[in-house]
Amino acid sequence: MKRSPEFSLQCLQFMVMVLSILFTGTEAGRLDIPRLSPTRGTLIENPEIMSSKAVSDDLQTFYYPQTLDHFNYQPQSYATFEQRYVMNFKHWGGANGSAPILAYLGAEAPLDGDLTVIGFLSDNAIRFNALLVYIEHRYYGKSIPFGSREEAFKNASTLGYFNSAQAIADYAEIIMHIKKKLNAFYSPVIVIGGSYGGMLASWLRLKYPHVALGALASSAPILYFDKITPRGAYFSVVTKDFKEASETCYRTIRNSWSVIDKIASQPHGLSILSSKFKTCKPLKSSSELKNELGNMYATAAQYNQPPRYPVTVVCGGIDGANEKQDILSKIFAGVAAYRVNRSCYINQPTNGSETAVGWRWQTCSEMVIPIGIGKNTMFQEQPFDLNSFIEQCMRLYGVPPRPHWVTSYYGGHDIKLILQRFGSNIIFSNGLRDPYSRGGVLENISESIIAIHTVNGSHCLDILPEKESDPEWLVRQRETEVMIIKRWIAQYYADLKAILIKQ
Ligand SMILES: *[C@@H]1O[C@H](CO)[C@@H](O)[C@H](O)[C@H]1NC(C)=O
Ligand SMILES: *[C@@H]1O[C@H](CO)[C@@H](O)[C@H](O)[C@H]1NC(C)=O
Ligand SMILES: *[C@@H]1O[C@H](CO)[C@@H](O)[C@H](O)[C@H]1NC(C)=O
Ligand SMILES: *[C@@H]1O[C@H](CO)[C@@H](O)[C@H](O)[C@H]1NC(C)=O
Ligand SMILES: *[C@@H]1O[C@H](CO)[C@@H](O)[C@H](O)[C@H]1NC(C)=O
Ligand SMILES: *[C@@H]1O[C@H](CO)[C@@H](O)[C@H](O)[C@H]1NC(C)=O
Repeated sequence: MKRSPEFSLQCLQFMVMVLSILFTGTEAGRLDIPRLSPTRGTLIENPEIMSSKAVSDDLQTFYYPQTLDHFNYQPQSYATFEQRYVMNFKHWGGANGSAPILAYLGAEAPLDGDLTVIGFLSDNAIRFNALLVYIEHRYYGKSIPFGSREEAFKNASTLGYFNSAQAIADYAEIIMHIKKKLNAFYSPVIVIGGSYGGMLASWLRLKYPHVALGALASSAPILYFDKITPRGAYFSVVTKDFKEASETCYRTIRNSWSVIDKIASQPHGLSILSSKFKTCKPLKSSSELKNELGNMYATAAQYNQPPRYPVTVVCGGIDGANEKQDILSKIFAGVAAYRVNRSCYINQPTNGSETAVGWRWQTCSEMVIPIGIGKNTMFQEQPFDLNSFIEQCMRLYGVPPRPHWVTSYYGGHDIKLILQRFGSNIIFSNGLRDPYSRGGVLENISESIIAIHTVNGSHCLDILPEKESDPEWLVRQRETEVMIIKRWIAQYYADLKAILIKQ
């Protein structure tokens, strides 16, 4: 295996995931695993959403002096760093009425993008009379320990504090701090997250029930660890999405890899491929091209959201090419349809985004999501190889990943058996066209640990802003989520009232 599963788990991804130059090997490299971002699709479609003008004036930024290490009492653990969070009081019903708090838990990216792209909070503030809180994940954006990114990312000694348990403890501490500051002791808190952030939301509810009354975990693949989910599931869904969009498109893609290999093996083959695909830099290997194409298909499937439906766009290009054209011209037509009007299309220069850099550490330490490519997909087979993954991580950081820690600490195996009589108030929402949905919770576990999915939904779609053009099934999914959360809150107020009367 040349590359690690690195498709990060953001709802929001800022740029094309040409991650992992570091993971590119010499043989036919495997694909980067799609990142887990809630918002990436949205940003690709609507870059203007990131402009600072779009950010509401009602948002106020705060910093909390966060403890470096919550879990031991050695002197160096008491160091602090400034952790960013943002609040919007506009629709809050206030502490006196114990009005709710909706808290968004940041994922593997700076918080800035989430403020506009996570619509679930702003769209629902008025429906819940809620205070909105957005908290940045440690080691991203402005929430960097050790005084600088350079220092924080220097080596495993400083990166060691960069993990989910610390992040969830940070969120718990900030939420408690806000409630205290506002005298909002009885305000119910609903935590919301997408993708990796969705995992954090569900885990926070399970570990800190006194901090959050409930969680909305959108597209959270909490079961894509160990061997709970078949390793090939991700790319089977990518394949299925393309096949359903167009059988001919699927076949063209499936047949293209061997053609790329064949041309690459000829004299001047790489320069032929470079010019055919209008690459920004000459290709150094065919796997560079294959990885980027694979990433593009995976991204299109993961963020296959209405109204554009990127899978349909790619296939429109491929199928729309002249029947007489050769197979690679058809593939290029798909690339060009998706990445419109570029001066060049493959191998664009990038500066390793914060997400790429941070997520690489996270996947190399704790978030080992073993995605491979099995048989019967439209890709070349590429099983996940844990040993070579561990070796790469050792080379990068000098410490090995701990692939079984997530399931030891949070669980995941036999989730229904374990959680049917433990825990409550979690919604696991998914769109089944999202390849990560296969690692999500797709079955109702109990009365209040609930799976809500849509057949045609994509990654984190339900927590993106409501739009006029939203299809009926998406509107209904969101309505169901709101209704369930309202029920939790009503129940909580009834319990609160009963207890206060007794006192
Ligand atoms: C909340 O209640 C307290 C005590 O009843 C009162 O003094 C205060 O003015 C109220 N605050 C608001 C914002 O209504
Ligand atoms: C990280 O760097 C510091 C300072 O340069 C050094 O003291 C420490 O041993 C290094 N840790 C690792 C794991 O290499
Ligand atoms: C792409 O370029 C063509 C020709 O310059 C132009 O007509 C078209 O509007 C552009 N499309 C987009 C999406 O920018
Ligand atoms: C990368 O960073 C350099 C220096 O900060 C900048 O000039 C360049 O535009 C960046 N390139 C990309 C592709 O973001
Ligand atoms: C789980 O239960 C809810 C109602 O509480 C329902 O809307 C939903 O469709 C169920 N999910 C599945 C996967 O059956
Ligand atoms: C999902 O999309 C397909 C193809 O666009 C359509 O035929 C199907 O009816 C949709 N299913 C639902 C449940 O909306």
